[in-house]
Amino acid sequence: MANQLVLVLDFGGQYNQLIARRVRECGVYCEVHKYSLSIEEIRAKAPIGIIFTGGPNSIYLDESPKADPQLFELGIPILGICYGIHAMAYALGGKVVSNENAREYGKTDTFYNTSCKLFEGLPPEGISWMSHGDSIAELPEGFVSVAHTASCSVAAMENVHKKFYGVQFHPEVMHTENGISMLRNFLYNVCGAIGDWTMGDYLKTAVEQIRAKVRDGKVLLALSGGVDSSVAAALLSRAVGTQLTCIFVDHGLMRKNEGDEVEKIFGDGRMNFIRVNAEERFLGKLAGVSDPETKRKIIGEEFIRVFEEEAKKIGTVDFLVQGTIYPDIIESGLGDSAVIKSHHNVGGLPDYVDFKEIIEPLRLLFKDEVRQLGRELELPEYLVMRQPFPGPGLAIRVIGDITKDKLEILREADFILRDEIMKAGLEYSINQYFAVLTNMRSVGVMGDGRTYDYTLALRGVTTTDFMTADWARIPYDVLDRISVRIVNEVRSINRIVYDITSKPPATIEWE
Ligand code: XMP
Repeated sequence: MANQLVLVLDFGGQYNQLIARRVRECGVYCEVHKYSLSIEEIRAKAPIGIIFTGGPNSIYLDESPKADPQLFELGIPILGICYGIHAMAYALGGKVVSNENAREYGKTDTFYNTSCKLFEGLPPEGISWMSHGDSIAELPEGFVSVAHTASCSVAAMENVHKKFYGVQFHPEVMHTENGISMLRNFLYNVCGAIGDWTMGDYLKTAVEQIRAKVRDGKVLLALSGGVDSSVAAALLSRAVGTQLTCIFVDHGLMRKNEGDEVEKIFGDGRMNFIRVNAEERFLGKLAGVSDPETKRKIIGEEFIRVFEEEAKKIGTVDFLVQGTIYPDIIESGLGDSAVIKSHHNVGGLPDYVDFKEIIEPLRLLFKDEVRQLGRELELPEYLVMRQPFPGPGLAIRVIGDITKDKLEILREADFILRDEIMKAGLEYSINQYFAVLTNMRSVGVMGDGRTYDYTLALRGVTTTDFMTADWARIPYDVLDRISVRIVNEVRSINRIVYDITSKPPATIEWE
C-alpha cells in the first residue's frame, strides 16, 4: 500500500526543503511541488495534508503567488507558514496589511492557546522565529487567533471545522521552541498521520526511480571515499548493479589505509570498480611545489586528466552521477525548481567526460539524512560518519613542499590522533580533527642525544557549517596521550603543538 503523503506547496520560501525534511523526520512521506500544481494533480495524489511554505513577497503585489481558491474545497487539512498564512487569509477573504509597527524579524516571545490542536501538550509561551513585514489585520470568516506576540495579534490562526491552520512564524527552524512538535501535532492530530514512512521506503522509491530512468544505460561515478559519493555509489549499485562503473582516483594523498578501505567496500564485484593508483603521477607533478594555491590547482587538473583517461577507456556513458546534496543547491526564485551550484569536489568534471545526463540521487537530502540512507544501504558506520576530508587531501596538510617521506610521517601521526580521539569517545563531538606537518624544525632531546626534527600541529574544531568554527576543547589528558604516543611511535617528530585559533581569523585547514 502506498504511504500517506503530505504535499508541501512552494510559494518561493527559502525553507521549503527544510519543511519537507521535518515532515520526513516525523515519519510521514512528503513531496515539495510548486504552488501552482493543478487541483487535478493534487486530487490524484490524495494527500492527507497540505503545507504552504513561506515566500519572499507581499501578497498584494501583482506578481505574488496566490493560492488557488479550489484548494480550500478539497476537504484536506492545510497549514500555511509565514507567507503561507497570508496566502490562506487572502484567499479566504481576510485582510493582510503591511504595518511598519508590526514587523518582526528573529526570535520573538510568543503566547499560544494550548487548546488549539497545533499547540496541544506544549508550553503556552515560547520563542518563535519570525520573519515578516506583513501581518493579518482581519481574520477570514470562521477563523480565530490562537497565538499572539507583543506586536502581532494573529501569530497563528485556526478554523477547526475546516482543519485550516496558519502560523506567522517558522516552526521548521530550530530557533522556534517546540516548532517540530507543532508540525508533528499538525500531521498527527489534524491530518491523521500514522507515521508509515521510513528511510527504507525512501531507498526503495529511489531505487525504483533510478531504474526507470537508467534502464539499460551505462552509469559513471567519481568515487572519492567521502560520505556523499560513497552513499551515491552504494545507491546506484543497488539500483543498476554492474551497469555502474565507479572510478576511484587514488592520488596517494589519502589518510592511512583509506584507499584500501574504499576498495574493500566497493571492489567486491557488485559494480565495476576501478582504482587508479596515481600516487607517483601526482607526487611527480607536486615535486618542489610549496605554494598552497598551486598545489590545489595541480591536484585538481591532474585529477581531471586521470579521470578522463579512465573514462575514455569505458567509452560513451549515458549518465554521470554526482553526489550533490541539498545544502549544495542554491534556490532560484519563486517556486522554480532548484538550480545547482555545481559542487566541484572534483573540479569541472562534466565538461571533460562524454555523457548524456547527470543523475543527482541525493539532491533533496540533508547531510544527516544522507548518513541515514548510507546505513540503510549497509555501509559501515565509520564511513557513514566520516568527517570531511578536503579534495587535495594531505597535500594541504604538509606545509611547504611535499615528499613521500613527509606524507608517511603525517599519515602515521594523524592515525594516532584519530585513534586516541576515538578511544576517548570524542569522534562525534569534534566535527573535524587532523594533524598538520609544519615545515618547521626545532631542537629537542631524546635519550642522550640532540634531535632536530619536525613540529607537528594538531587541529580540532567544533562547527555546524564549517564556515565558522571554534577550536575544540580537547581534554588535556587526551592531548597528552596523543602527544606521548606520536613522539614515541612516529619518527622525525620531536615537538607537538595544538592549534587554538578559531575560524575566522584562521581557516580550518592550514593551507
Ligand atoms: P577551510 O580551511 O576553508 O575549510 O576553513 C572548510 C572546510 O572545507 C574543507 N576543505 C575542502 N574540501 N576541497 C574540499 O572538498 C577542498 O579543496 C577543500 N579545502 C578545504 C575543510 O577540510 C573544511 O572541512
